[in-house]
Amino acid sequence: MDYLIPPERVETPGFVLRSYEVNDGPLLAEATNASYEHLRAFMPWARPHSTEADAERDARRFRGRWLLSQDFTIAIVSPDGRRLLGGTGFHPRNDSLAARRVEIGMWIRADEAGRGLGSAVLRVMLRWGFSAWPWEELIWRAAVNNVASQRTALAVGMEEEHDDPEGMRRFRALRGSWPGSTPSFEGEVTR
Ligand SMILES: CC(C)(COP(=O)(O)OP(=O)(O)OC[C@H]1O[C@@H](n2cnc3c(N)ncnc32)[C@H](O)[C@@H]1OP(=O)(O)O)[C@@H](O)C(=O)NCCC(=O)NCCS
Repeated sequence: MDYLIPPERVETPGFVLRSYEVNDGPLLAEATNASYEHLRAFMPWARPHSTEADAERDARRFRGRWLLSQDFTIAIVSPDGRRLLGGTGFHPRNDSLAARRVEIGMWIRADEAGRGLGSAVLRVMLRWGFSAWPWEELIWRAAVNNVASQRTALAVGMEEEHDDPEGMRRFRALRGSWPGSTPSFEGEVTR
């Protein structure tokens, strides 16, 4: 597999996960500018301030890479579509698209963090990733001092592996054996 036509979005009562789109710049700039202090420790891309034009370029790059099947960066949006709650994504590394093994990344905006949203989104990403997406293995990597990130992975039943080449803490879930693969999928998958 070197090209994938993925589902565009999944909707749950609390949030929508969808591809970034043209004109997402203002939403993205507002969320990241309001979250810089929260993001800077662990998100190397965090900037003290982004203009809407900077963020529009990022949103278009995310959409372009999605359409080329190179990377799948996902917006976490409020149900009314007006607020960006954070970002996530399925990120192939090296040849891992062919192996159907991708890494999940995530950030939650500062004023929504620590309230259960990150673990709820990760649970949906795993269920969606093993249903509408073709992934066989989903990986989560956390810096050794990123306790919130490690606890998020453990909270959704990912198992820890101990062979990360860069010394990160590494967690994974496998299609078929992840404990959350139960029938009650709490989101409606739409294309
Ligand atoms: C990591 C992150 C995505 C988690 O999302 P969140 O919405 O804050 O997480 P939740 O509220 O669902 O909490 C999940 C777990 O983390 C714990 N947690 C949340 N914030 C924490 C904090 N600041 N310190 C320690 N533990 C924390 C929660 O207690 C919970 O663990 P529990 O189930 O054992 O009680 C979010 O905090 C974030 O955006 N951090 C900055 C960016 C980042 O580090 N991304 C991860 C890169 S791998």
